[in-house]
Amino acid sequence: MSDHLDHAGRVVCISGGTSGIGAGLVAGFLESGAQVYTFGRDPTKLARLTDHWSDQTASGSLITLTGDVTDADFRATLIATIAAQSGRLDVLVNNAGVILSGGDLSESLADWRATLETNLIAPFALTQGVIDLLEHGAAPVVINLSSACAQHPFSTCTSTSYSVSKAGLDMLTQRLALALGSRGIRVNGVAPGVVESEMWGDATNLMVATVQRRHILKQQIVTPADVADAVLFLASSRARLITGAILKVDAGYTLG
Ligand SMILES: NC(=O)c1ccc[n+]([C@@H]2O[C@H](COP(=O)([O-])OP(=O)(O)OC[C@H]3O[C@@H](n4cnc5c(N)ncnc54)[C@H](OP(=O)(O)O)[C@@H]3O)[C@@H](O)[C@H]2O)c1
Repeated sequence: MSDHLDHAGRVVCISGGTSGIGAGLVAGFLESGAQVYTFGRDPTKLARLTDHWSDQTASGSLITLTGDVTDADFRATLIATIAAQSGRLDVLVNNAGVILSGGDLSESLADWRATLETNLIAPFALTQGVIDLLEHGAAPVVINLSSACAQHPFSTCTSTSYSVSKAGLDMLTQRLALALGSRGIRVNGVAPGVVESEMWGDATNLMVATVQRRHILKQQIVTPADVADAVLFLASSRARLITGAILKVDAGYTLG
């Protein structure tokens, strides 16, 4: 898909690019020729990502930093690094997200706060921090990783704090689109259903059972590359008048 969604030379920042969907996003933008900044908390996962891409022939370039998106000092370092090295930002993908525990009423308030900090407050704070860089960018766009859980309280969404954080993120997407349209910055969301990733941890059986339901398109598990294709499209000039949208990538998961 990246053939006709050329992001060559674009400056892209992806939070949480070291596993799952984030790693798929890094791959998609690098293969499309972008200069990609990404980060995560675990230096071992970052080293693995850097090693992997040092062996590849993708036309883009990768810059990694170790840090926590909920840490204001780290965000300031990240923004200063992008400013110093690139002078602008074309695409921000707020991808980093966590599910810390399951249960409706049993989740601790500490988990609630940490989930909202990572999944909702950090995307706002990072976007707020890079607005000047985006204004110097070419066709700038922000894309937030939502979830089917944002709009559907099904039983497979085991964490209430997670679902609430993603519902808030959907409204944030729309409010930011409203606020930033006059400055030429588009803001969209992508809402995957069930995607194979580390996030599922030991709930992999639940994931497989979910996608084997009859109405799921070809009973297939959505891959990080499928999600990346949607993000690359929304970040491209093909989507130049799309803003405030939340695109489902769920093989029909939310239909039944
Ligand atoms: N997998 C699914 O079925 C699914 C479905 C719908 C939506 N989503 C959403 O898609 C996004 C990616 O999920 P995934 O499944 O790819 O998860 P994942 O495999 O667990 O990857 C999460 C990434 O975010 C990073 N991260 C987490 N917390 C961070 C923090 N505080 N600061 C910096 N980096 C952080 C992780 O690295 P470190 O641990 O090293 O920090 C990792 O790189 C999330 O927003 C998730 O809610 C996933």
